[in-house]
Amino acid sequence: MATTKAIRYETMNIILENLESALQQGLEAVKTAGAIADVEKIRVDFLGRKGSISTNMKGLGKLPPDQRPAVGKTANQVKEKLAEAISERIRELRESASATGIDVTLPGRRRGIGRKHPITQVIDDAVDIFRRLGYIVVDGPDLEDAYHNFDALNTPPDHPSRDAQDTFYLPDGRLLRTQTSPVQIRIMENQKPPVRIVAPGRCYRRDTPDATHSMNFHQIEGLYVDRHVSLAQLKGTLLTFAHEMFGPDVQLRFRPHFFPFTEPSLEYDFSCVNCSGKGCSICKQSGWLEISGAGMVDPAVFSHVGYDAEHYTGFAFGMGIERLAMIRYNIPDIRLLYENDIRFLQQF
Ligand code: PHE
Repeated sequence: MATTKAIRYETMNIILENLESALQQGLEAVKTAGAIADVEKIRVDFLGRKGSISTNMKGLGKLPPDQRPAVGKTANQVKEKLAEAISERIRELRESASATGIDVTLPGRRRGIGRKHPITQVIDDAVDIFRRLGYIVVDGPDLEDAYHNFDALNTPPDHPSRDAQDTFYLPDGRLLRTQTSPVQIRIMENQKPPVRIVAPGRCYRRDTPDATHSMNFHQIEGLYVDRHVSLAQLKGTLLTFAHEMFGPDVQLRFRPHFFPFTEPSLEYDFSCVNCSGKGCSICKQSGWLEISGAGMVDPAVFSHVGYDAEHYTGFAFGMGIERLAMIRYNIPDIRLLYENDIRFLQQF
């Protein structure tokens, strides 16, 4: 009879011993924990649903009913003691953190290194090239009036680019400039020739955004006015720019075009920097990459700013910055430049 009784109590004693040792282990761990996060982990390890106390209590159901209350009571006491020690330790750690003013339990803070946006990099590099060619950097307002953006640039009143479908108008009739060309007018209004300027900046058009269009984009405007300025000089200037920006093998080509403020007008292309003109997916097998428009300043523009077209000639050109950036960095979609995804920007 005595032995059966001993066996009867053996299982219970094992459970009680396990609970006691879990308590000791837990208390020890709490005492040495150095961070609140560590204490929270101890709470999970010991008191959680899968923690050591619960695990031990699984044996409870196998015990004879008369032994269960004693074991249950002990388990509850162990839990209480541990929970109390855990709260106490967390309070201690919080206090020591606020005493020094530094929460030593927080993870360290990394200092991110910033860099220039690819658009800014291209503007900086392009402007540097033109500075070396003797150009002065100027700017003009994003918020323009119709006179500078259209009229003074010889754009007829019924020209489609003035349409509210293409241009953002304010209720007072002003507009967000659709091109950097109005800066030409603002400079010539205030300065006698010779003029040699570049004007980088934002432009706005009511385009539907897609892989190559954005409602907000950037241009660099170039203007050179003096005696005897020629189309050949325009070609030389753009070719020099192409070589400085993309390397000595890049070629330049002109295509006839129309702009109200230049005569003759043209669009210019660089030979594809990816395939050297052989044809690839980037240049759509044409071997050429469209950059922007240019031309000789129309005498009608000179008359608006009081320049004597008998004595002076000039050339003007635009440049699409996003276009240059997409070519230079092989970026397939213009929208990537505006999403400001750190993973994208970190590559430049
Ligand atoms: N402003 C023109 C455009 O946005 C480009 C251009 C600039 C054309 C200067 C000729 C001269 O398309």
